Amino acid sequence: MSHTKKHATALLKTAHTHMPMGVADSYRYWGEDNTVFVEHTQGATITDCDGQEFIDFRLAYGPIILGYRDQRVDNQVIQTITEKGTISGFSTPLDSEVVALIKDLCPQIEKVRFANSGTEAVLGAVRTARGYTKRNKIVVVEGGFHGLYDEMMWKSDVDNWDSATQEAPEIAAFGIGIPESSREHLETIPLNDLEALQAVFDRVGADIAAIVIEPIMGNCGSIAATQDYLQALRDMCDNNQSLLIMDEVKTGFRVAKGGVQELYKVYADLTTFAKAMGNGYPVAAFGGRKAIMDTIFFGKDGVTHGGTYTANMIALSAAKATLTLIRDTDALATVQQTGEKIQQRLSKVFNHFHIEHKFAGPAAMFGVHFGSFVPQNYRDWKQTNSDLYTEFAFNLIKRGIMLEPDSREPWFICEAHQNIDLDWLENTAMSAMAEAVATHTSTMSSSNK
Ligand SMILES: Cc1ncc(COP(=O)(O)O)c(C=O)c1O
Repeated sequence: MSHTKKHATALLKTAHTHMPMGVADSYRYWGEDNTVFVEHTQGATITDCDGQEFIDFRLAYGPIILGYRDQRVDNQVIQTITEKGTISGFSTPLDSEVVALIKDLCPQIEKVRFANSGTEAVLGAVRTARGYTKRNKIVVVEGGFHGLYDEMMWKSDVDNWDSATQEAPEIAAFGIGIPESSREHLETIPLNDLEALQAVFDRVGADIAAIVIEPIMGNCGSIAATQDYLQALRDMCDNNQSLLIMDEVKTGFRVAKGGVQELYKVYADLTTFAKAMGNGYPVAAFGGRKAIMDTIFFGKDGVTHGGTYTANMIALSAAKATLTLIRDTDALATVQQTGEKIQQRLSKVFNHFHIEHKFAGPAAMFGVHFGSFVPQNYRDWKQTNSDLYTEFAFNLIKRGIMLEPDSREPWFICEAHQNIDLDWLENTAMSAMAEAVATHTSTMSSSNK
């Protein structure tokens, strides 16, 4: 069971001489002993550079919806780039073909622009909303995440928050290098709290350009907005001529063909997409109502949008193949059913150890919370036994199940998970939890009934 990490150790040592923290993205650094170097991916499996295989529920933070190296997607990309190329700095017929697919899946979308990452898509949507409304303020939700650009790099510091107080958690920058001025136009509210929502509109409503929300918080254990709350947000925005931006970077083309908006039947003015739309290829988009999107035009009264790599043919051929499969096959139904089966096996394990637990969000992207109720917002999450979760997660990783060792990151399911051995999963989870319980006896007694 204990695999040697000889190659990973050597690779990290070399990488330290080349990159800060020895990694290309700070979140990939899991410490000197646990940083993962991947050699190979296939289906729902990743293999590290020391030859250990993992069934992967992290899926690169969500983009993999079909499976790693899905031939149906890869072949279309290879064909496009070998026959046509990658970029030319001009339009291609692919641009409209992919938009048409997005519109087939998400009928509320009328016009779209592309981007290369979720961050860029959010940035474009926010700028467009400000341009359209001629207002500045952006309201975000505690526990949401919208990418790594200055304005969105202010978080509710629930980690260091005393849940016994009535005070809101402090809003803290992700680190240094983020000017204080970047939060000037940012307001933060807790999810599912109508009073807080009303209060922010009462206070600064005349300047609210948009609310940006992940209705199912893919960065906070899939804690979800209630139907009533989302509808109230929609109504409040309409009454105030503010826009509702739904950040579907994680949920889009995953939780349903039409994303969270299909599930809730509450529709945004602007929506951001990335991740699942390309099954791992770097492609993103934002779009929405025609009247709003048409604020994008050249000139001092228009919103400027573009970028060298925007709508490159690698990204768009991947999106075309992926979105076609999502539209025309029952891949997402398979993802959902597989996720439900996995939840049942996990429940069996948790029940065996008398661990109270709740799943949050849809089975395609579910959070696991150790506690007696489904958290309704980020502050509630603090009441869950996340330490036990982290212990359990590291024990799973040791045994060949990959996931983020933080209960704020959901379990991502892809179509290729339909072929995994569920008995093996259950037995592995059983042994991982037995070890976690053994090292966590004192914590356990407080969360058990
Ligand atoms: C909801 C949401 N928005 C935006 C982003 C930023 O996307 P990217 O990492 O592609 O820039 C993420 C990334 O996880 C996300 O989950």
